Amino acid sequence: MGKNSKPKRIGILTAGGDCPGINAAIRGVGKTAIVKYGMTVIGISDGYAGLINKEYRELTESDLSGILTLGGTILGTSREKPFKRSGKKKDETRKPLLIKEHYEQMALDCLVCIGGNGTMKTAHMLSEEGLNVVGIPKTIDNDIWGTDITFGFDSAVNIATEAIDRLHSTANSHKRIMVIEIMGHNAGWLALYSGMAGGGDVILIPEIPHDEKVVMEYLRKRADNNKPYTIVVVAEGIKVPEGENSAGRYLAKRIQEETGLETRETVLGYIQRGGTPSPMDRVLASRFGAAGATLIAKEEYGRMVAHRDGQITSVKLSEVAGKTKLVKPDDPMVKQAREMGTSFGI
Ligand code: F6P
Repeated sequence: MGKNSKPKRIGILTAGGDCPGINAAIRGVGKTAIVKYGMTVIGISDGYAGLINKEYRELTESDLSGILTLGGTILGTSREKPFKRSGKKKDETRKPLLIKEHYEQMALDCLVCIGGNGTMKTAHMLSEEGLNVVGIPKTIDNDIWGTDITFGFDSAVNIATEAIDRLHSTANSHKRIMVIEIMGHNAGWLALYSGMAGGGDVILIPEIPHDEKVVMEYLRKRADNNKPYTIVVVAEGIKVPEGENSAGRYLAKRIQEETGLETRETVLGYIQRGGTPSPMDRVLASRFGAAGATLIAKEEYGRMVAHRDGQITSVKLSEVAGKTKLVKPDDPMVKQAREMGTSFGI
């Protein structure tokens, strides 16, 4: 209950690319809001598009049962950015107004926005427009500023690691170089973690610009030293020449051309985002959800739930908006990997 002791009515939306754990977070917010605080919970369809189009339904406790382990999002998602102006579409400037109007018409006391960087930026802008907003960070990319970790990341690391594990045996049988392209947008977290977990010999991430010559030299040396095969883990966001649409494909082609060593590529793609969340993600998402409901109960709006130094806490959306959390080139993990002989192409 709020200061005026009237039970609150809250809206939940999920926006941006999906990831494992979103439903666990919806359940965490919703159940805590209903069971502990007696709130009414409204599920908004397809991210910010649902607010613009006024598409929503009430979520009861029974709607929230049985979704903890489900991948994807029961609410649907979209990459709708209501404040973005392309100048090409009619009525673009009306979107924020519609959102405000519908927020009022739906009689919401707060909006819970579950999403990544883009979602948090919009959430902040809506909060600047006077809406009560709470953010919950999710993404397989782990690149949201203000939180040490996001849910979705652990599941994706597990999936990517399993894929790398499986490449070892086939690479060994054929004595090949295997390049695997890992998602992560402009951040290298997923490639770095799965690369280390899967024993990648080379890990290339956007935060550490590599020198192709150094990579080729490293691969030739391994072949000269009778290493039967090599695993090259490549983040999708590394710099490649204009016109190349896959870092993994480009690099595999270059390796084969330059070294003459038989090379194959795997672009892991959306498998990394699909399916059931790992136990760690289920716990993190549930706790983030519960913490989101508590922020609302305390009327601490304009904040994003976060995990910092082992604690669940929150940060101002104004501090998060517009920033990206990248791997620091001198991250201890990078240093340790290099000391074990992993090449970052530098
Ligand atoms: O942010 C998650 C992510 O999967 C990134 O790793 C990737 O670059 C992007 O989304 C893909 O976006 P879309 O779903 O729009 O193809």
